[in-house]
Amino acid sequence: MHTVNPKYQDKSWDFRTADTKEYTHCFHTYPAMMIPQIARKLLNQYGMEGEWLFDPYCGTGTSLVEASLFGMHSVGCDINPLVRLIATTKLMFIPLDILDSELKKLDKVLFQVEFGTDKVPDAPIPKIPNLDYWFSEEIIKSIAYLLDCINKVEDQAVRNFLTVAFSETVREVSYTRTSTFKLHRIPAEKLENFNPDIFGTFRKKLNRNRQGLAAYLEKRKDVEASICDANTVNGELPMPCPLGGYNLVITSPPYGDSHTTVAYGQFSRLSAEWLGLPNARKIDRLAMGGQNSRETLAGTPVSSAIKKISSIDEKRAREVSAFYIDLEHSISSAVKTLSQRSTICYVVGNRRVKDVTLPTDEFVVFAFGKHGFSHKETIVRNIPNKRMPLKNSPSNVAGQTSTTMHEENIVICQRTD
Ligand SMILES: C[S@@+](CC[C@H](N)C(=O)[O-])C[C@H]1O[C@@H](n2cnc3c(N)ncnc32)[C@H](O)[C@@H]1O
Repeated sequence: MHTVNPKYQDKSWDFRTADTKEYTHCFHTYPAMMIPQIARKLLNQYGMEGEWLFDPYCGTGTSLVEASLFGMHSVGCDINPLVRLIATTKLMFIPLDILDSELKKLDKVLFQVEFGTDKVPDAPIPKIPNLDYWFSEEIIKSIAYLLDCINKVEDQAVRNFLTVAFSETVREVSYTRTSTFKLHRIPAEKLENFNPDIFGTFRKKLNRNRQGLAAYLEKRKDVEASICDANTVNGELPMPCPLGGYNLVITSPPYGDSHTTVAYGQFSRLSAEWLGLPNARKIDRLAMGGQNSRETLAGTPVSSAIKKISSIDEKRAREVSAFYIDLEHSISSAVKTLSQRSTICYVVGNRRVKDVTLPTDEFVVFAFGKHGFSHKETIVRNIPNKRMPLKNSPSNVAGQTSTTMHEENIVICQRTD
């Protein structure tokens, strides 16, 4: 029997005016990033220097970067190889003198093609379907050349640093609309005048990231941090796992399946294809709730909501069930790695489907409750600055939208036995 303890709104968790791009948090945008201030505040309340933090859906590594600044060792997992690369790079020790000397060399080479008389030299172009649908011919040549220059850098940490700036640049110089995380091309009438400055964009990102890195290196503690590709939904466990288990989880799982909530895979696809990363077109199917389920969930806090959805649209109800079944599997795996006195902090959104609200926060309490965790509290915060779609289409009918993602819940449970 799970008990549900206090759930309350607390504006001090909104962080309306906070700078969310300090340190290496500035490196690369990504949908629905956790803001560092949430992880920081949770670490201050529940963290202990020298202990271990785990994030099963680490994305670009916000909670791991904060753990390193706080003084906790950390491990993160994500099924998306692009964000594993970004998170790894945000946590890395990159000697600034080596970085600066490589940046200088690269700058010289790029200056030659930008402002000299040389044309952009030919470089290998990867075989990507429909490449010319997303990029102009000129931009394809420049991206290929830039990537070739980056791949020639020998130092792996520096190469990662450059690759992260490259990845963000690729999306910005493509014909993708910036107003959505999904891949939609800008309108035909705008294509002709779309003439992005690829090298300038890349350089700006390098400068910004160099500043963030310097601030991070100055403050980070001497702790371990690593990223692995374990999928806890399938029972895979994170490595390394400390003796006695992790003491703290700070994480933000997806709000629902990628197809109808946040399309992480589509957001990453163009960069991932240029970089030759695996599963570039499959991430959204591999993500939680990406595969259909025949089961419908009974006896859980989301079951009556799913029943209501089922009376309107049975297929949709099965899709929603698939997500919660995966979430429960993932929680069952994660608890195996947690210590006997661990605290879990899950930042979740209660999305609406077919105008029915799904109490994901209660589901998390229920799923951890099955493994001996008791609910401490749930804090409700407004989302003033998290980058995610504020409007979705709960009925899945184009044009019919509803603003459902204005708040999120920070669910805190503790193992007390
Ligand atoms: C809300 S985002 C996390 C954002 C992260 N907190 C940040 O600040 O960047 C959720 C992440 O879960 C990942 N994901 C989805 N299904 C997963 C699974 N089965 N195992 C691990 N990660 C998964 C997605 O790829 C996405 O990066």
